[in-house]
Amino acid sequence: MDSQDHESAVPDPIPTPETVTMPGLGMGPGVLLDKRYLIERELGRGGFGVVYLAHDTQLHGRNVVVKVLLDHQSDQWIEKKFLQECEALARVEHPGVVGVKDRGQTLNGKPYLVLEFVKGITLRSLLKPSGLDLDRAANLIRQIGQALSAAHDQGVFHRDLKPANVMVRDLGGGQEQAVIIDFGIATVLDSSGDDSYVTKIAGSPGYMAPEQMHGKPVAASDTYALGVMAYQMLTGKMPFTFEHPAELLFQQKEGPKRKPSDLRPDLSPAADRAILRAMAYEPADRFPRAEDFGCELERAIGRLRVAELQRARHGPRMHPRPPQPGQTQQEL
Ligand SMILES: Nc1ncnc2c1ncn2[C@@H]1O[C@H](COP(=O)(O)OP(=O)(O)O)[C@@H](O)[C@H]1O
Ligand SMILES: [Mg+2]
Repeated sequence: MDSQDHESAVPDPIPTPETVTMPGLGMGPGVLLDKRYLIERELGRGGFGVVYLAHDTQLHGRNVVVKVLLDHQSDQWIEKKFLQECEALARVEHPGVVGVKDRGQTLNGKPYLVLEFVKGITLRSLLKPSGLDLDRAANLIRQIGQALSAAHDQGVFHRDLKPANVMVRDLGGGQEQAVIIDFGIATVLDSSGDDSYVTKIAGSPGYMAPEQMHGKPVAASDTYALGVMAYQMLTGKMPFTFEHPAELLFQQKEGPKRKPSDLRPDLSPAADRAILRAMAYEPADRFPRAEDFGCELERAIGRLRVAELQRARHGPRMHPRPPQPGQTQQEL
């Protein structure tokens, strides 16, 4: 389900519908869909679909994203997959989950989705070999956890959570919001119709929970994926290296050879514990909710920050102060 990680950028001035030069082409730049959405350019292309930046000509040319599935799947499968992604997105209303605005059909009969355009870049393109800034990573992970919990509360499991499927929206003033995209293989509980088609694609092995590798994804499988992402965002490394999924399953059971703080010494034992708990082999051993993980990790990282700030403020002490009345050793 992955595609090249193209960064979204503010587009050039919009052509008007009159400038459309390729009627009948089906899809591509210049095509006007349903007399409304004017395709400007491709943003990304995966194995299953193409994502375009487009303009809503009925809303002053507002930027939108049009997602169309590629031709080479069977029509029935495309239809089901499309409906599933549409339903998953329509169910979840949350600032951390991309909004769906409309749906329609291209000239050659392929269904398309219209999504809100997220101005920003993917989390994948933010990753750094030395790891992200601690506070920034903690903030993004908490936001993703909260968005996942909102989806889980509506019976939607993402199943393909990874940095390429998270956009980081620039809110200005140094603020940002993580927005989960690509619910292309999401499971939608109680959705009408059978769900056998969702098993057709598995997800992305590096982030996939053991039970999902066995074909039994649950809500906590997304928490596992977020745990792997946290490991990667903070250390710049993936927790496991493998050539075959069977090797991965074995390593997942053992747990990562190196805990996050082995690679990033400014991480506290509490941060290690939170990440490794999110990546527990058994779903029941993970956090009850994805947001619990995000909040716990942020607290662990924040606590460390407070201790660092205090040290910086008071400077190195030659003679440690004895505990004050009512103050425990740990609080120092
Ligand atoms: N709503 C959006 N706003 C801005 N860019 C988007 C949006 N949705 C997708 N993209 C861009 O298109 C790429 C592919 O989208 P995605 O939904 O992940 O499709 P695929 O199934 O091809 O992986 C993303 O990595 C991102 O760069
Ligand atoms: Mg994707």
